[in-house]
Amino acid sequence: MRAVKRNIVTMTSWAPDIRQRKGPRYLAIAEALADDAGAGRLRPGTRLPTHRDLADRLGLTVGTVTRAYAEAARRNLVSGEVGRGTFVRGPATRFAAPLAAARAQEGLIDLSANHPPRAPGDGEERALARSLGALSRRKDLARLLDYPPEGGSRDHREAGAEWARRSGLDAPADRVLVSSGSQHGMTAVFAALLVPGDLVLTEALTYSGMKTLAGLLSLRLQGVALDDEGLRPDALAAACRARPPKALYCVPTLQNPTASVMSDERRREIADVAREHGVLIVEDDVHGRIPHRAPRPLSAFAPERAVYLTGTSKALAPGLRVGFIVAPEALVGRIAAAIRGTTWMAAPLMAEIAAAWIKDGTAEAILRRKRSEAASRQRLVGQVIGRFVDRAQPTAYHVWLSLPRPWRGEAFAEAARRKGVGVTPASAFAVGRAGAPDAVRVCLGAARDRAELERGLRVLADLLAASPEPAPLPSGP
Ligand SMILES: Cc1ncc(COP(=O)(O)O)c(C=O)c1O
Repeated sequence: MRAVKRNIVTMTSWAPDIRQRKGPRYLAIAEALADDAGAGRLRPGTRLPTHRDLADRLGLTVGTVTRAYAEAARRNLVSGEVGRGTFVRGPATRFAAPLAAARAQEGLIDLSANHPPRAPGDGEERALARSLGALSRRKDLARLLDYPPEGGSRDHREAGAEWARRSGLDAPADRVLVSSGSQHGMTAVFAALLVPGDLVLTEALTYSGMKTLAGLLSLRLQGVALDDEGLRPDALAAACRARPPKALYCVPTLQNPTASVMSDERRREIADVAREHGVLIVEDDVHGRIPHRAPRPLSAFAPERAVYLTGTSKALAPGLRVGFIVAPEALVGRIAAAIRGTTWMAAPLMAEIAAAWIKDGTAEAILRRKRSEAASRQRLVGQVIGRFVDRAQPTAYHVWLSLPRPWRGEAFAEAARRKGVGVTPASAFAVGRAGAPDAVRVCLGAARDRAELERGLRVLADLLAASPEPAPLPSGP
């Protein structure tokens, strides 16, 4: 049996073309490996060539390939087994492990995770305690212990419609489904409407949860060029002409990771291109309520072909795990079936709390406090590292930092981690073969308070003022 298994896992003749890739050769190999694994060209379990084989094929030293495989292992792309070789890991382990590993580092100031900031005073905790107290006195509590319909109970769907309305999207509750957070919303939508191998266009730098999901569902991703407002309509049109996609996934407001916000005009142009090419839009508006005023959702410009995803994670509390999907009528049933196939339905108790907060004004009060805390944190960023910030918005939870030469994104993130600060390099968000820019995303919300954030930002400021340490010489063959 073992022999049969070994035969299935064949050693590949994988030899990436890294000539177009910038930066140290070992990073170029690691990035090529990430792209090929992400796109399904290298399947999980595949045995990679030996260090010497790959070095010979690429005309590099064995030491360079050893560093490349070590880098790929650090990113959880591969695992090594002494005497057996180096193997490509599956998507679930590939994406889940680095986050857990980063968090586990003792004393790390986490500027890598995109959490909503906790404002001083524990407003959400008090709101939750009040809601739980009020719930415990209700006569109809048993209702929350039963199975509701897969798309959520009527009043929870109405709360979702109200939440979307406050972002500028009008839709009847019949077109709203309750999910267990936006990530689950994305899962249900893509699982319902696409099949393995389908092509999805995304921003060239996209939310890493979309990359994870594409790996799980075997969707092919292709990045579309960005400018200061996000997706470029001309690049989107060119991509649609070259290879018709099944869907476009994008984050028009507070794009993750680049923090751009599309203007009204840009949204109209993107909607027009999608309409002209018959493309389904999946709009992720999880950050949509964070700015004081954001343009209307992209979905409002093409409601007949847009699925809109929102939720309470960023505006209220991620632990509620409540999201809302607004879909064209014809797609509601299929998406509801995918909710049933993944979680049966969102937990009614959590949806009840979110709905109560939306109805009774608690949600708006929490949101005001979050915006105000985020604005204070943004001002701190402006004071400490402002001149390096490429793009920020007054209440955003993250900023996009262009690195001064000769810093590279990966090397900077690694240097920051060694000094106890987590940030995320552009490569974690990059889609496709184009090299990631030398930039990092810095999140402001996961630091416990402003003092901790300031300590982290000062570490980054020192690094930005210094040059990277020279890479150690690779050991020769
Ligand atoms: C763009 C984007 N979409 C979805 C999510 C996940 O949201 P949720 O907690 O609602 O699943 C995040 C979280 O960072 C995000 O930035």
